[in-house]
Amino acid sequence: MSSSLPEDHMSAMITVNVELGERAYPIHIGAGLIGRTELFAPHIKGASVAIVTNSTVGPLYGDTLRVALEPLGKKVTTVVLPDGEAHKNWETLNQIFDLLLTERADRKTTLISLGGGVVGDMMGFAAACYMRGVPFIQVPTTLLSQVDSSVGGKTGINHPLGKNMIGAFYQPQAVIADIGALHTLPERELAAGIAEVIKTAAIKDVEFFEWIEANIGALNERNDDALAHVVKRSCEIKASVVASDEREGGQRAILNFGHTFGHAIEAGLGYGQWLHGEAVGCGMVMAADLSVRLGRLADVARQRLVRVIEAAKLPVIAPKLGDDRYVDLMRVDKKAEAGEIKFILLTHFGETEITGAPDQAVRETLAASVRSIWRRPEH
Ligand code: NAD
Ligand code: GLY
Repeated sequence: MSSSLPEDHMSAMITVNVELGERAYPIHIGAGLIGRTELFAPHIKGASVAIVTNSTVGPLYGDTLRVALEPLGKKVTTVVLPDGEAHKNWETLNQIFDLLLTERADRKTTLISLGGGVVGDMMGFAAACYMRGVPFIQVPTTLLSQVDSSVGGKTGINHPLGKNMIGAFYQPQAVIADIGALHTLPERELAAGIAEVIKTAAIKDVEFFEWIEANIGALNERNDDALAHVVKRSCEIKASVVASDEREGGQRAILNFGHTFGHAIEAGLGYGQWLHGEAVGCGMVMAADLSVRLGRLADVARQRLVRVIEAAKLPVIAPKLGDDRYVDLMRVDKKAEAGEIKFILLTHFGETEITGAPDQAVRETLAASVRSIWRRPEH
């Protein structure tokens, strides 16, 4: 497996800026970026760096990153976390603090996450907490983390009672998204990333949604131009939403389309059973069903959404948790207010509405979406 693209792709790099005043930062997108010293140099001010990765990604890209950092003459230490959503918790977070304290990391130590959204969310939270805040750089290596989780400063860990319930808003110094890394991703993880791309297009950009409908085959086959396009467009959209509402006072919640149902699936089955992106894919199908039931969305639009989610090899039938359990889990969603669940409904491609919903309609959606046996699509 290779972590880079042919020579003629190596120099092409796109930069999207997240405009947040004094917390503004660049997202660099291209192939071969993990090895480019000059992208890291401006963001590392202190004498030391701590790379936080996991047992899967470290062996694939850790050496490339360490070699890129060498010319900067910094002390570099690495912490290797166990892999998986089931480890996105206090115990694993504490391993990062153990290393930082053992290595006498100071306030100017820069943390670098090398991995997917699980590593990035945990390392970002560690950066927000260690000595009340140290700088960090995100090097996302999954499609999901390149198009979504590394951008926007949401960091955190799971609690057994709710997904991403403990965390902080804390922005990185830079995001360095190497699309070459996507060539070693397992198929299922690629599909999970495509779910967040479909989400971003569905809520904000009808033309982008139509582009995905027409190019889903190229994405499934990891065509480099298709991947670069979706990372760029998704980051542009997310950057503009985050710039308008950094701490989710309102508009940013639309990025949670599909997540109210999806988080319930993840927590209800036990973290790691379904991938986050798989749960979001199925959650969008459920949210679209609810949108139709409440008279907000045309059924033909719902069908188009289901077709593209299926074409991305994502599940469209929800697991059976029991309706009461679904409703209980959705009540601990961060958008819930005084126990009322808030849903992101689709009204047209590119347009959403954030609203409560009658219990009966929610239960009808659950009845229509849930089966006791769910089979993963063939990859
Ligand atoms: P992940 O981090 O678990 O990565 C998926 C798997 O792919 C892991 O096994 C990982 O080790 C492996 N992997 C990573 N890069 C690889 C590569 N290049 N080649 C081979 N294997 C590789 O999962 P994810 O989908 O990246 O992230 C999901 C997490 O992101 C969830 O916890 C979710 O809550 C979070 N998230 C956060 C935000 C946010 O705004 N902060 C947004 C969306 C999702
Ligand atoms: N993934 C949702 C957000 O960043 O707000």
